[in-house]
Amino acid sequence: MVTTAEPPSTTTAATQPPPAGQKPTRPRVLSGVKPSGSPHLGNYLGAIKRWVDAQDQYDNFFCVVDLHAITEDQDPANMARLTREVAGLYFAAGLDPKKSTVFVQSHVPAHAELGWLLNCVTPMGWLERMTQYKDKAAKQGDNRERISVGLFDYPVLMAADILLYQAHYVPVGDDQRQHVELTRDVAERFNRLFGPTFVVPEALIGESGARIMGLSDPTKKMSKSEDLPGQSIGIFDDPSDIRKAIMRATTDSQRDIVFDESRPGIYNLLTIFEVLSGESRPAIEARFEDKGYGDFKKALAELVLDSLAPIQARYKQLMTSGELEHLLREGAERAAPVANETLRHVKNALGFLVS
Ligand code: TYM
Repeated sequence: MVTTAEPPSTTTAATQPPPAGQKPTRPRVLSGVKPSGSPHLGNYLGAIKRWVDAQDQYDNFFCVVDLHAITEDQDPANMARLTREVAGLYFAAGLDPKKSTVFVQSHVPAHAELGWLLNCVTPMGWLERMTQYKDKAAKQGDNRERISVGLFDYPVLMAADILLYQAHYVPVGDDQRQHVELTRDVAERFNRLFGPTFVVPEALIGESGARIMGLSDPTKKMSKSEDLPGQSIGIFDDPSDIRKAIMRATTDSQRDIVFDESRPGIYNLLTIFEVLSGESRPAIEARFEDKGYGDFKKALAELVLDSLAPIQARYKQLMTSGELEHLLREGAERAAPVANETLRHVKNALGFLVS
């Protein structure tokens, strides 16, 4: 079954009082993608597709989190292009500006400002425990002279992104679970120290597709910073490259096409099939019962290409129409008052002389 962003049946977030100064009629969601590389199938299946599918259930805020893209080495020549690419994908995938506020994080300065304020209530030890930080620091040889403070502090900025909008839910892939937990801890600590200010949000993680693995090495997550050929499927990749990557995907020497987590290659491919087709696992297994890996991969490649073709076409049209900048300006104009209102409450709670 396709997993959509259904709120859990028991939730602490939904039973909380409305956030300071804001009373959304529907539960609010906030999420984002970092423009540190071209978006891939994992970003789409683990996050963006689920935002689109659940757009009518929520009060939606989605941003391109560009401030997060400078925590590691980056080339300024790519920054604006990748930001437009991710934003263009949001709309091309189906986010409707009438239903969702879509904006660029750095266009709303309150993110950086709340990030600073929350820095001062977040213990270092909490950040030291973040596995993503530890992994990324290890990739830089744990070199203290090289790793930026921003990389260490990144989860606090992410907490600011979420808490500024008093979001109830944060639809993300599995790799962001720990960061949302930290956000909850920061919100609870702030509320305890300075009075009720923030909604304590919950992560919404899909039952399937929350951790799409690489195609060449299915023991590693598909990611933007991939240098292994065929590991990642970019949303805007050429159809022939996508087909090639799927046909060459690593599987195993067994024959049956079944959902078996101990066989990471075929399990990952089947999961992609499941999320894109919306079919149940038993139906998919029955469909490929008498088939070989080659037939299955061919069917998967067609499904992926059919799913991405309309997105690629809408993207092309949007990017040549000049409409994107206008949509993003409007999004920032809608997001800023919500963010500024929360910031005002936070500064009041901290005792600032508010201008
Ligand atoms: P980022 O840009 O790495 O990823 C964006 C979204 O895609 C999901 N994702 C995946 N899902 C399934 N399989 C994969 N292989 C895969 N790779 C990535 C991520 O879980 C995420 O949902 N820290 C965040 C960005 C962020 C954010 C926020 C998210 C900053 N502020 C506030 C939510 C709310 C990140 O680096 O995501």
